[in-house]
Amino acid sequence: MNNFYFNINTKIYFGTDQLTHLNELKNFGRKVLLVYGGGSIKRNGLYQKVCNILRNNDLEIDELSGVAPNPKIDTVRKGVKLCKTNKIDMVLAVGGGSVIDCAKIIAAGSCYAKDPWDLIENGKKIESSLPIITILTMSATGSEMDPFAVISDLSRNLKMATESQYIRPKLSILNPEFTFSVPKKQTAAGIADIFSHTCENYFNNVKGASIQSHFAEGVFRTVIEFGPIAYNEPNDYIARANLMWASSMAINGIISLGNEVAWSVHPIEHELSAFYDITHGVGLAILTTYWMEYIINKDPKTIDKFVQFGKEVWKISDKNKPLDIAKISIEKTRAFFDQLNLPNKLSQVNIDNTYFEKMAKKASCSSGFCPLSKDDVLEILKMAL
Ligand code: NZQ
Ligand code: ZN
Repeated sequence: MNNFYFNINTKIYFGTDQLTHLNELKNFGRKVLLVYGGGSIKRNGLYQKVCNILRNNDLEIDELSGVAPNPKIDTVRKGVKLCKTNKIDMVLAVGGGSVIDCAKIIAAGSCYAKDPWDLIENGKKIESSLPIITILTMSATGSEMDPFAVISDLSRNLKMATESQYIRPKLSILNPEFTFSVPKKQTAAGIADIFSHTCENYFNNVKGASIQSHFAEGVFRTVIEFGPIAYNEPNDYIARANLMWASSMAINGIISLGNEVAWSVHPIEHELSAFYDITHGVGLAILTTYWMEYIINKDPKTIDKFVQFGKEVWKISDKNKPLDIAKISIEKTRAFFDQLNLPNKLSQVNIDNTYFEKMAKKASCSSGFCPLSKDDVLEILKMAL
């Protein structure tokens, strides 16, 4: 286990009836920028509840609505302008990862003199931020408790992640009931995203970080158990609650600290989204098992970790040979995504090989669990076609 620094300073209020804690926003000032997406929070009544509580606490509300999935830099720029002009004190995101990520860069961009895209290209340029508060409505990205934000500039086919401790939310409210209205397709995509974050952190080459590995195996098992229940019974509180906490735990640092983690499937998926604006979790569901198959063939040293994955997560008998355990675990992973009706081929989401060369060149996967060259990425994309 490597050395690490641990300080996750996001205050979490988890469960039902937690919205009253919005009164704590008074500690951050008086003017709130309320950021939300395409209207789901108006349809399920959350918007009105939030506004009522803010007003009852003498907080003044400005709004930025219409944040699209795979949030765009132009929306960030609009939000930064609003914050600077109206002297906003804090940014409150109510939504999924896209809304939260957009709010994060608005909050950081409001404390930055130049164009906020600089902050996406280089997270070190984020030296301060307005306080960020989130009300999560969809279990997926973990943005509610992590230091990342992912923003796109589709005019240049760019989708990039940035990282800074300044953009970790100060406070997040996680009520599983707020996710009851998430459509099936988004529920499934969110499950694939949580599963993938856990993979990205779990598959690494550091020895001896057992607590992190076993924690990750717990997250996998939770997602495998409760994902299909939430998918089939959207109002099942226990299933939604477990997915919601898994969303945060998969990426907040608990399972990556003490490891050497460099992600492999996400950089490839971000290229798919940059060119085709597809749903993030859908892209991950398609790519994950092809990446697994490719790396066990490329480097047999990777098989050991797949044996652990197979035995601990999928309960595959160790009477099987190591390579067979690895292969069965990949089959089981694919069957899990199939169960959620997630596509397993790029052609199913209308992606052909037109941009494969460009994508493979841009995707940076050279330092992951199994380092991948441009040609390796190209092969994985072809397998997924
Ligand atoms: O826009 P609204 O109307 O709110 O509808 C959204 C959107 O259409 C809908 N939705 C969310 N909560 C709902 C709901 N519909 C009904 N009821 C609810 N309670 O779901 C749709 C998708 O929302 P979005 O926020 O785009 O989904 P997600 O949370 O998966 O976020 C995806 C974005 O996050 C990035 C992805 O790349 C993508 O841009 N990521 C962010 C990460 C991070 N910050 O750490 C890491 C991830 O790996 C990921 O890259
Ligand atoms: Zn993700």
